[in-house]
Amino acid sequence: MRDYKSPGQYILDQYAPRIDDLSFPLWMNLGLWQEAETYADACRALADLVAQRVGLGPEDELLDAGCGFGHPARHWLETYRPKRIVGLNIDPEQVRIANARAAALGVADRMQFLLASATRMPFPDQSFDKVIALESAFYFDTREDFLREAFRVLRPGGRIVLADMLPTATWKTTERNKSVRWYSMKPEENVYPLAEYLERIRAAGFVDVRGESIRQHVFPGISQVVDAIRLENRYAGDLVVKVSPEERARCAGADLWENDLGLGDFAIFEGTR
Ligand SMILES: C[S@@+](CC[C@H](N)C(=O)[O-])C[C@H]1O[C@@H](n2cnc3c(N)ncnc32)[C@H](O)[C@@H]1O
Repeated sequence: MRDYKSPGQYILDQYAPRIDDLSFPLWMNLGLWQEAETYADACRALADLVAQRVGLGPEDELLDAGCGFGHPARHWLETYRPKRIVGLNIDPEQVRIANARAAALGVADRMQFLLASATRMPFPDQSFDKVIALESAFYFDTREDFLREAFRVLRPGGRIVLADMLPTATWKTTERNKSVRWYSMKPEENVYPLAEYLERIRAAGFVDVRGESIRQHVFPGISQVVDAIRLENRYAGDLVVKVSPEERARCAGADLWENDLGLGDFAIFEGTR
């Protein structure tokens, strides 16, 4: 197996002095830029979308697969007040920071982060009511192994929601996008478009399976942030992003993900166990 290179290293490198500052948001997703105009607001909006689709509420024990620095879990705990959240991550430093922040916030009894892979979960069958994978399943080796595990650890009637990056229906593998996927730790086994994605969720046993592309609300916004970081080499958390209707309609900026990664779609999926 390859050594895992963390997508969070960029955040650790850039924002090291601010990691201990609890008011500094440690989101790590592309965000939902429907109304949001800053990176933190967009990430929060995407976290809200998945929480609402999964139906998160006070009775729930939630598994967050690919939990990043624990910032989504913190937001869900504060906003939707589930009984308990357990986050999984294969990056030890992200797990350490997530647990340290939970302790500093005084919520470590209701929010824990474990060093383990979403493809081999350290839980007995039927341990959770809800599973969320917020922009993480394309990293899992493989996504199908995760779906099987999610089905196993969910209680009957439990719900799964994924926000995920995937190819469009017309994608083609090129030497370039294949090597970028390899360098950025995205397994080839996970490269299939929306229709097949739905089939694989069903094949894992889920019912009432749905999926919907939200790419126009993701790429045009985040591409402006990426441009600011690349061109101006600066912290872009305070950047005010405006997406015009025309940019949204043509999904401006998606070509960056389409050409480099071959992953030009971004969709939200749901299913019931
Ligand atoms: C793009 S980040 C999203 C983080 C977080 N959900 C958020 O929105 O801030 C993807 C996350 O998946 C984690 N990850 C990758 N492979 C994993 C695996 N096999 N099991 C659990 N987590 C994994 C990464 O370490 C990273 O934290």
